[in-house]
Formats: sequence, structure tokens, C-alpha cells
Amino acid sequence: MYAIKAEKPLETPEIYFQSHDARFTLYQGNCFEVLASLPAESVDLIFADPPYFLSNGGVTCKSGRMVSVHKGEWDVSQGVEENHEFNLRWLSACRRVLRPNGSIFVSGTRHVIFSVGFAMQQLGFKMLNDIAWFKVTPPPNLSCRYFTHATETILWAGRDAKTKHCFNYKEMKAENGGKQMQSLWSLRPPLKAEKRFGKHPTQKPLALLDRIVRAASERDHVVLDPFSGSGTTGIASARLGRRYIGIELDDNYLELARKRFGDLAGEVAEAKVKSRKRGPAKVAR
Ligand SMILES: C[S@@+](CC[C@H](N)C(=O)[O-])C[C@H]1O[C@@H](n2cnc3c(N)ncnc32)[C@H](O)[C@@H]1O
Repeated sequence: MYAIKAEKPLETPEIYFQSHDARFTLYQGNCFEVLASLPAESVDLIFADPPYFLSNGGVTCKSGRMVSVHKGEWDVSQGVEENHEFNLRWLSACRRVLRPNGSIFVSGTRHVIFSVGFAMQQLGFKMLNDIAWFKVTPPPNLSCRYFTHATETILWAGRDAKTKHCFNYKEMKAENGGKQMQSLWSLRPPLKAEKRFGKHPTQKPLALLDRIVRAASERDHVVLDPFSGSGTTGIASARLGRRYIGIELDDNYLELARKRFGDLAGEVAEAKVKSRKRGPAKVAR
């Protein structure tokens, strides 16, 4: 099995926001260092939506207009080998914090998902499913030289070969009208209401995270997202009574996630953000 050098933990990772009951925590920082600061085997479920490495000067179509696909500096490709090294590093850091029966979902397009899948195999994850998320209303392909990109792949894996992963089979079957739920999920992009506090260029629909969290975790389980963005995983987790840890580099996206949570929880979170807390990395109990 492939071994990755352990990351250096932060003594005091920066808590950007924590709810009063400590069940919803947003850390600001690089996920490698923050993950290394968290206790081993303390997380039940991870959803990760890592950089796609597709911001390389291309264009796409949005609301009938040609726009750049530049999502941010974090999404610029460093080349095939470096991108793969990046995937190995964060996946390895995630694996350390997963409980023995924990599992991880990773979403991505063709730019990144093959590397992610290979890295998972190299690190000894147990591959469970490759889910095709059909986006239902994808933008047209402007060049007319390819099929319209209409799907995203979501890989699901257990921590290791012995993992007895959580799967709420009956709930998924009931949601699918009494028939086994398949690995093809037709879900629309985020609703307008999901973007009312601001936009993230790769925001995932709440319905997608709602399904993942319900399928593979129980109430009070700890759910973690190392690339938290606008906090979609956190919002789905909080709605479903799970605890949440989100890690994100960018202030603007952290603020967006805090606002979304504040709206959900009816919390006046202003004061907490103004006096940013520093504290030991703990998983809320
Ligand atoms: C694909 S987006 C995730 C979007 C998220 N799923 C949502 O629904 O909003 C990836 C996010 O990871 C953040 N990011 C990139 N590199 C990071 C790193 N090393 N550590 C923590 N966050 C990182 C980016 O700022 C970006 O917001």
C-alpha cells in the first residue's frame, strides 16, 4: 500500500465559526494542516469536492452567454503529477481521521476523478460505488466538438478493506418509490434560494448532499468536508441532526457558509465572527 508522509498538524487551527452547541464548526485554513490537527478516527462520514483543476483558460455557457470557466487560483492545474500528489495528500489525511467503519464520497469531473480513484486505490480505501450524477439541465457545449458534459462522478469508498460502512438501504429504497436506488442520480443544480446569500462557483445542490448524508450516516454522526466552500455539506448535515466540521481556505466562502448556517439555525452569528476564536482542534461531542 502507498504511504504518504504525515502532514504537520497546527497547534491551534483557526475556528472561523462555531455554533453555540459546538455541533457545527468551520475551520479556516489549508485542509492538510487542519486535518492533521484533528484526532485520528473521529469522523464517520466525509464528503469532499476537491479542486477540479479545470480553470485553464476555457469557456462555458451560462444563461446563454459565453463566460470564462476560471473558478479561482485554487482550481488551476499544476500538471498531472502534482495534481495527483495533491489528491494523495488530502485523501491520506482524510483516511487518518475516518473511524474504522467510516466512509468517504468524492465528487469530480473527468479532470480529476481518475486521479482521485487511483489515489484511493493506492491508499487502501475500499471502493463501494461510482455514482453518476446527471445534472438534468447542463449548459450546452459551445464548441460543438464534444457531447454536452452532463454528469459528474461521485466515488464512494470505505476507509479500508475491513470497513463495515453505514448504508441506510431502506430509506434510499423508500425514496426511490420502493425500488432499490440505483447509482444514477438525476438531480438539478442548486436552486436560486440556495444562492441567496451569495454565490460559489462550484456550489453543490443541497438535494445531493442531503441524499449522501442520509444514505451513509446516522443522527449525531460527525460529517466532515475538507473543501467546504459555501458549506452545502454542513447545511445538509445540520438539517439532518449530524455534527459538522468544514475546512475552507477562503474567507468569502466561509462567510457564505456561516450566513447559510445562521439562516438555518436562526442564530445571530455576527458576534462570533468578529471575535474569531482560536482553540484546540476538537470534534464536538
Ligand atoms: C469545488 S469547491 C467546493 C464547493 C462546495 N462543495 C460547495 O457546495 O460550495 C472547492 C473549495 O475548496 C477550497 N480549497 C481549495 N484548496 C483548499 C485547501 N487546500 N484547503 C481547504 N480548502 C481548499 C476552495 O476555496 C473552494 O471553495
